[in-house]
Amino acid sequence: MRVGVLTGGGDCPGLNAVIRAVVRKGVQEYGCTFTGFRDGWRGPLQDRTVPLGIPAVRGILPRGGTVLGSSRTNPLNEEDGIRRIQDTLRRREIDALITIGGEDTLGVAALLADEHGIPCVGVPKTIDNDLSATDYTFGFDTAVNIATEAIDRLHTTAESHMRVLVVEVMGRHAGWIALHSGLAGGANVILIPEQPFDIDQVCAWVTSRFKASYAPIVVVAEGAVPKDGDLVLKDQSLDSFGHVRLSGIGEWLAKQIEKRTGHEARTTVLGHIQRGGTPSAFDRWLATRFGLHAIDCVRDRDFGTMVALRGTNIVRVPLAAATARLKTVDPALYQEAGVFFG
Ligand code: F6P
Repeated sequence: MRVGVLTGGGDCPGLNAVIRAVVRKGVQEYGCTFTGFRDGWRGPLQDRTVPLGIPAVRGILPRGGTVLGSSRTNPLNEEDGIRRIQDTLRRREIDALITIGGEDTLGVAALLADEHGIPCVGVPKTIDNDLSATDYTFGFDTAVNIATEAIDRLHTTAESHMRVLVVEVMGRHAGWIALHSGLAGGANVILIPEQPFDIDQVCAWVTSRFKASYAPIVVVAEGAVPKDGDLVLKDQSLDSFGHVRLSGIGEWLAKQIEKRTGHEARTTVLGHIQRGGTPSAFDRWLATRFGLHAIDCVRDRDFGTMVALRGTNIVRVPLAAATARLKTVDPALYQEAGVFFG
């Protein structure tokens, strides 16, 4: 079989581990040949490819990013997008397409598989961990480790100066990174997109933390919103899936806290540091297992499916079901963390 592989959306640590596992097992066990499509859906749209075989995947397991490149190209917004993808796949005699992506990339794969008969298999990635149907996406654990290390470091400088330090982490619709790194790093306030926050309450927690002679660390997800307010944005531009570019809430919070409590506050925006660099051991393990099971789906011609983690097992779920809704933080889970606020 000839198998196409693409990585779409924001990159994350572990993409190369999936590609390596797919190719290693595909070549060794099933005699597959591979075509790498460049830059997400732009690859099959514009017929941009890279050679993909055992030599191309040597040494890439610990490398961040993706050897295939990535983009947020949405073929549904391109003229004749679906037909152009079909033409490329036909011309290159591709029997199956492994799409490694998040909500947007896999949403397109679901539509192509279910409505246009394109033989897609999905692999869930995103540092945000917001894809339903899988317990974890790879990339998330690495991002949480990076954010936790940053919070650990910020504690000592916050205490030296008795300042508030606000840490803005990624998380567009879901606060998983904020919640996990905030708990692991001993944050005094954690703010997530799922629970609009009351700025007076945040300031009360900050003040009470100073009373105990500690300097507070506030972890905020980029998509968090104040009650009775709107998303705080520095930039109004949209990507091709219609998402605004986030970031700005951290700075807004520091200003509000300073103004309302009189305590000096600073902001650290972790941004793409959370997405770069070598994957954690957990992400390498998960990404590798996803890759091994994705190529099994291809061998079984089980298309329109996504591989997913359930407990410690890798299972197959319909792509459409996996992308139908986002996995957000349960209110009860968030409340658990409240013991440490203030
Ligand atoms: O896709 C996940 C994500 O990292 C979000 O958390 C974040 O809002 C977005 O990507 C940033 O995207 P870009 O790299 O395109 O600015």
